Amino acid sequence: MRIICTKDYEEMSLRVADLIAAQILLKPDSVLGLATGSTVAGAYDSLVERCRSGEVDFSKISTVNLDEYIGLAPDHVQSYRHYMNSHLFDHVNIDKSKTNVPSGVAAEPAEECRRYEQLIRDMGGIDLQLLGLGKTCHIGFNEPGERFETITHVVTLNEQTRKDNSRFFASIDEVPKKAVTMGIQTIMSAKTIVLAVNGEGKADALAAALQGDVKPSAPGSILQMHQNVIVVADKAALSKLA
Ligand code: GLP
Repeated sequence: MRIICTKDYEEMSLRVADLIAAQILLKPDSVLGLATGSTVAGAYDSLVERCRSGEVDFSKISTVNLDEYIGLAPDHVQSYRHYMNSHLFDHVNIDKSKTNVPSGVAAEPAEECRRYEQLIRDMGGIDLQLLGLGKTCHIGFNEPGERFETITHVVTLNEQTRKDNSRFFASIDEVPKKAVTMGIQTIMSAKTIVLAVNGEGKADALAAALQGDVKPSAPGSILQMHQNVIVVADKAALSKLA
């Protein structure tokens, strides 16, 4: 595991964008696993700039996103499909038909999970998976207690996570209670993982992920078992590492 320590959020975002840009240069038809949330937004801004300047070419890239809220349609402003379109896909030369986010409104969520997992396999697996980290140490929406061997599945969101994400909604009551998420096994199958973390509020979760026991009560701790993880975190997030 490699840890890149940055002075602040801006530098973290640039380093994350560097890694994704390098992946695209090395393999222009990469399958990128993408994440949502405030942590990764700055990296997407930087990738948009790099695409506009001709430095990065998304034309052969395919993407699969980690997760989606159940009950939110793709055009809902808080859906992760909407997030991806507005932060990245609408502004780069990607073929939108090659971008994938689980459906939050499938009639049969369990069937949607099977379809999504198979889709990732049919695409040949994920070359680079970008991850954020929840305060609960979740990755994707895999909350504490999830079995490590899960593939794409339906989860009930932890109350802390709903509270954390309520900042994007009018009130906590509007935050969905369930989501579809890639499982921990799906995430761990990616060839390279880039974990982005910033801020003091994530320091305990990051310490648990990087230095704590590897156990389902700290889902991010499984990353210690991956052969190719790059952690890009600011000083504040790394402040509780021994
Ligand atoms: C969200 C998402 C995760 C994300 C994490 C951190 O709930 N499901 O994919 O990485 O929590 O979010 P943020 O970056 O907004 O703190």
